Amino acid sequence: MKQIIKVAALIVFLSFCFFGSSSLADSKGIIKYRQNVMKSTAGHMGAIVDILKNDLPLQAHILDHARSIQQNSKMTLAMFPKGTGLGNTKAKPAIWENWSKFESAVQDFERESAKLVKVAESGDMEALAKQVRATGKTCGGCHRNFRKRD
Ligand code: HEC
Repeated sequence: MKQIIKVAALIVFLSFCFFGSSSLADSKGIIKYRQNVMKSTAGHMGAIVDILKNDLPLQAHILDHARSIQQNSKMTLAMFPKGTGLGNTKAKPAIWENWSKFESAVQDFERESAKLVKVAESGDMEALAKQVRATGKTCGGCHRNFRKRD
């Protein structure tokens, strides 16, 4: 009888280890993924700023960068499923504690980057500079509440 209990305890312990580590491995993948998508968002933002600031003869690229940012904005919410706050991540637990607030920060980002595309389509460079700032504010607005500082 004692033997059976020991074996049962061992099975429970091992399955705990197995599932525990496999879910951590899952988080590791998605954490890396969302960091890569965030980096690409920052890359496209920086590229637009470079074109504007240095007056590069690449204004024709701006619309595509803006579209990429908007595409990324639509991916943002799904990159933060519940249970992915542990590991090598700067995501704060506040994301899952205040999910609706996080959702609205994502919506701000989606809305402003959609406007960025519209303005880029119009070719109005002054309006574009303003809208780049407005879009950038939505990054900071979310990071302030939901991303850990270095
Ligand atoms: C709704 C919230 C939210 C919005 C909007 C947002 N971010 Fe982030 N961002 C995060 C969170 C949370 C992390 C931390 C992710 C992690 O480490 O798991 C992050 C991480 C990053 C990183 C670091 C990636 C890395 O290598 O670890 C960069 C760069 C970044 N964001 C840029 C941007 C830019 C630029 C914008 C706007 C154009 C933006 N983010 C919009 C929440 C947001």
